[in-house]
Amino acid sequence: MIEPIRIPSALLPRRFRVVVNCPELSDVSTLSILPLDGTQTSGKPGQFNMLYAFGVGEIAISISGNPADTDTLLHTIRNVGAVSGALCGLREGAMLGLRGPFGTPWPVEAQAGRDLVIIAGGLGLAPLRPAILQALSMRSALRSLSLVVGARSPSQILYPAQLADWAGSGALRISLTVDRATPGWTGMVGVVTTRLERALEGCDPANVSAFVCGPEVMMRHSCQALEDLGVPAACQWISMERNMKCAVGSCGHCQFGPDFVCRDGPVFRWDRIGARLRIREI
Ligand SMILES: Cc1cc2nc3c(=O)[nH]c(=O)nc-3n(C[C@H](O)[C@H](O)[C@H](O)COP(=O)(O)OP(=O)(O)OC[C@H]3O[C@@H](n4cnc5c(N)ncnc54)[C@H](O)[C@@H]3O)c2cc1C
Ligand code: FES
Repeated sequence: MIEPIRIPSALLPRRFRVVVNCPELSDVSTLSILPLDGTQTSGKPGQFNMLYAFGVGEIAISISGNPADTDTLLHTIRNVGAVSGALCGLREGAMLGLRGPFGTPWPVEAQAGRDLVIIAGGLGLAPLRPAILQALSMRSALRSLSLVVGARSPSQILYPAQLADWAGSGALRISLTVDRATPGWTGMVGVVTTRLERALEGCDPANVSAFVCGPEVMMRHSCQALEDLGVPAACQWISMERNMKCAVGSCGHCQFGPDFVCRDGPVFRWDRIGARLRIREI
């Protein structure tokens, strides 16, 4: 008798329905999705799902909602190509496939008693938002909490209403900066590294932990600047992006030196990965 082929559940997409498609920026949308089978869905801050646009393809997208909300999943997606474009174009009621969650989380709980600095560049705020929300939920356990956000221009700032709410709450220090100001912008101008000294004010650098996410060049410069300010490399984490297929450590598409980004990352400690990031073509 021929045995039926069993496909591991991590490779089988579940069906989800789009509840809301919220435009964030001209080329960025946030999908709120619910599982059709009604099971609870969650993921730790920093983890990602493989989202499948039926008939088009499957891509890795970070979870970007509140980890405490186990009903609805949020993913913020930039339309850069065929699959991300198809996902951004899904209307309310449309169906998509999802596998996950996968990958390593931001170590938020381990930062109790420390000064936590979160640094986001552009869309990097999306994978960091769950970590910020978790940090806010345990705010009294942290010595301090700062957020540094950089965007190319004021119109490219992600989640502006939520940033304003957080700033108003007084629970965290926010520093917002843009590469290029436009008329009406009265805030800071310059790359995020110019804001780090200020973000660390009043902190002993040895007690600082940092989560950094954004374009690779921004993460490299930010981590180096933090090291120059005395923050140990072992207290910094970044989130990596590489092309993914299986997301379970078997196809090799996301290999980065000895690591598979889908299995050993995407969140890596800077002292483990920093030297490799400085080498071209890995
Ligand atoms: C762990 C992880 C988390 C991610 N989280 C998010 C997220 O929250 N939101 C989001 O919008 N995107 C995220 N991405 C990136 C997303 O997976 C890519 O943008 C997507 O694969 C593009 O597919 P596409 O078919 O739309 O475009 P393609 O036609 O495949 O590519 C369009 C352009 O994007 C580049 N590209 C493709 N894949 C990647 C990649 N993985 N990293 C960098 N550049 C790439 C291509 O070189 C090309 O220039 C994440 C990627 C990873 C690995
Ligand atoms: S995507 Fe297949 S090994 Fe990581």
